[in-house]
Amino acid sequence: MTILLATSFEPDERAQWLALLRERLPGESITDRREGGDAAHVDIALVANPPRGALAGLPGLRLIQSLWAGVDRLLADPTVPADVPLARMVDAAMNEAMAETALWAVLALQRDFFDYAAQQRHAHWLHRPQRRADETRVVVLGAGQMGGTVRRRLEANGYPVRAWSSREGAWPQVLHGADIVINLLPLTPATRGLLNAHAFAALPRGASLVNLARGAHVVEADLLAALDLGPLRHAVLDVFDVEPLPADHPYWSHPQVTVLPHVAAQTDARSAADVVAAQVRAVRAGAPLRHLVDRRRGY
Ligand code: NAP
Ligand code: GLV
Repeated sequence: MTILLATSFEPDERAQWLALLRERLPGESITDRREGGDAAHVDIALVANPPRGALAGLPGLRLIQSLWAGVDRLLADPTVPADVPLARMVDAAMNEAMAETALWAVLALQRDFFDYAAQQRHAHWLHRPQRRADETRVVVLGAGQMGGTVRRRLEANGYPVRAWSSREGAWPQVLHGADIVINLLPLTPATRGLLNAHAFAALPRGASLVNLARGAHVVEADLLAALDLGPLRHAVLDVFDVEPLPADHPYWSHPQVTVLPHVAAQTDARSAADVVAAQVRAVRAGAPLRHLVDRRRGY
């Protein structure tokens, strides 16, 4: 049987993945090329932004393992077989990377460090009132792998945190009183466009948004209006509707927006290859697979 690596990685990153996987799975046939008659032997596909059609015509496919945590793009691609189990990446190292990004953003917002950086660009010496962590109320949307880790890391640093999941609390009342909202929801039909004018209106004046999940959670025009007219003070955005973010997009130069190029929690090939290897061994042993996506819920 063959394991197919189907990604849009640059050649260096693909070579790194192949080397890490071959080291962990000696005896497995692992390739990043689909060639002629080989398609019939592929039973596991490892995917990260695979080119459209890369998983079509693989009759023996038994598992699609995403190298990304979010599977929204895969579920939206009609050429990805809908009847093959799909697992998403769950890696403690990735959760911790996300928690680092969230902690950086929350600290910078609490202590006005984005404003001080802007002041420096204008040689402007000005003291701002200093807020404490314990009076900075954080709401985390999503209480799963990422949201749960972010919550623990923020609480350990003294922030009062409320986490919101599909099981808890009414929308948008959960946003009442939040100084900082961190979005870590999966992108599904239920969450697309959730961060809109209606949601922003539930926030107190001076609140900030940190979007680390997917761009399409946010209605861009509503976010820009909430920044320009209130109640939002600042937005830290790692993800966008169109990526890379077009050079003429207003976010790039907006004084209340901090842009990251989708790096909040990148897959770490070293630890993620261990996760993949364990999953492949489970397939070979007929053991239960981990972190399967519920296609009905979309995550
Ligand atoms: P996860 O473990 O599946 O957690 C998802 C959480 O969202 C769960 O708590 C779930 O609630 C909640 N949820 C789902 N739909 C909801 C709804 N309609 N209303 C309220 N809560 C809802 O996912 P994860 O591993 O934490 O990842 C979350 C997302 O982060 C990914 O889908 C991806 O888009 C994004 N991400 C971004 C980056 C980056 O670098 N920017 C990196 C990795 C991941 P239940 O527990 O009740 O089901
Ligand atoms: C990155 O955005 C991921 O979903 O892993």
